[in-house]
Amino acid sequence: MPDTMNIRRISAACGAEVSGIDLTRAPSPGQVDVLQRALGENGILLFRDVGLTPEQHIAFSRNFGPLEAHVIGDFALPGHPEIFVVSNVKEDGKLKGAVYAGQYWHSDLSYMQKPSMGSLLLCHEMPEIGGDTMFANMFMAYETLSEPMKRFIGGLSAVHDYSHAYDTYFAHLKERPPLTAEARARTPPVEHPMVRAHPVTGRKALYVNPGFTKGIVGMPPEESRPILDLLFRHSVRPEFIYRHKWRVNDMIFWDNRSVTHYALADYDFSVRRHMHRTTIAGEATH
Ligand code: SIN
Repeated sequence: MPDTMNIRRISAACGAEVSGIDLTRAPSPGQVDVLQRALGENGILLFRDVGLTPEQHIAFSRNFGPLEAHVIGDFALPGHPEIFVVSNVKEDGKLKGAVYAGQYWHSDLSYMQKPSMGSLLLCHEMPEIGGDTMFANMFMAYETLSEPMKRFIGGLSAVHDYSHAYDTYFAHLKERPPLTAEARARTPPVEHPMVRAHPVTGRKALYVNPGFTKGIVGMPPEESRPILDLLFRHSVRPEFIYRHKWRVNDMIFWDNRSVTHYALADYDFSVRRHMHRTTIAGEATH
């Protein structure tokens, strides 16, 4: 039913709400094409009141590519390795998923040789106050740099490393144990261009993020650090950001090639925040 699907922009920075599609049923190839283009143009797609089972969430996500299991198997939904659980909920004293996930600006799996194309996060439980997710438009971040800066970074690659998040953001969090030697071995540092052209729109996006980008190829830290810090600050200017206040059964499909995101830890941690995420595999960047 492609004629009834409606896509409405929801913010100047990025994001569109999609209605008129039943995600419990297989979309037509035409609908998948429309959604892929809308994702490329808007950076995030919001679906309201979806109420999907894990199987339906996985099935819908697979229309956009193969799914990636998270490197830390403990965060997977039992029986469904394709679902990464983001949760502060404990059962028998054990956390049901990744607590403190994404509480820093990042692009999912930018630390992999083939970073994720997109992620679909479905809200199951949410505190009444707080727990929003922010999304920053990396097309706008790139386009508002000066021409000399665009030329400079256009020829450079950056080093992305999963362990960077553990050595910085998670270092002081006792409920996020250090990365195991095995997980470190599975996520060696990788290199990606600092600017990526989007495969659907051709538009250029800045492709660095504070969570996982730890250096610039060929530069010592004393040179690369100030450049990265400047780009990180610039990339999250308020006018580039859409902040989503979650309702239960909202699902957001974001494009990891053109937006970064940040989960706000501003809520009462004794209140349950529980989400399921699927992560779609992407292409090599070089
Ligand atoms: C994530 O980075 O995937 C988690 C986002 C969130 O919990 O809002």
